[in-house]
Amino acid sequence: MGLADDVDEILIPEEVLQDRIRELGKRISAEYNSKEPLLVGILTGAFMFTSDLLRAISVPCHVDFMATASYGSGTESSGIVRILKDLNQSIEGRHVLLVEDIVDSGLTLNYLLKNLRGRRPATLEVCALLQKKGIQRVPLDLRYVGFEIPPDFVVGYGLDYAEKFRNLPYIATLKPEAYTDPA
Ligand code: IMP
Repeated sequence: MGLADDVDEILIPEEVLQDRIRELGKRISAEYNSKEPLLVGILTGAFMFTSDLLRAISVPCHVDFMATASYGSGTESSGIVRILKDLNQSIEGRHVLLVEDIVDSGLTLNYLLKNLRGRRPATLEVCALLQKKGIQRVPLDLRYVGFEIPPDFVVGYGLDYAEKFRNLPYIATLKPEAYTDPA
């Protein structure tokens, strides 16, 4: 059985995703022209988005990654964020653009922004591919958002359920029977 058999609905097809990422890249290139931004991708979910976004940026920029522990194998935010891998460099005085896959409750991002702000970057902004509508539990100021989506659980394009489905090239919901109890 293929991965796609577990897909219920394709919310964002591959071409639509890629077109939007090219647009975001253009905006970022214009707004960060000559600032040499440091893109900070949040692993694992944002690895694909970070790499496509980088290729859509036409001005000099740098990239680094942080890894945070997310949901484990369930589908709900615990609000507890652990940094599993930190940045390789100081961000003091740098123009930092945090690249996130999806903002759900906003708790992960809120924690990361506080943490990074403490390291005194020159500027700190967020580029999130997806934002779930109407369910953020903390006020967030997101400079770039790819798509607003309904508050359903989604997979694909880097996003997983129980570490699966990251390799789908689109954003999709899963059939109910695809959810197995994380025993
Ligand atoms: P938040 O702290 O509730 O905003 O959740 C943020 C993190 O949870 C994201 O960076 C994802 O790793 C994960 N996450 C949230 N919603 C989804 C989803 O629909 N599918 C897959 N992962 C998700």
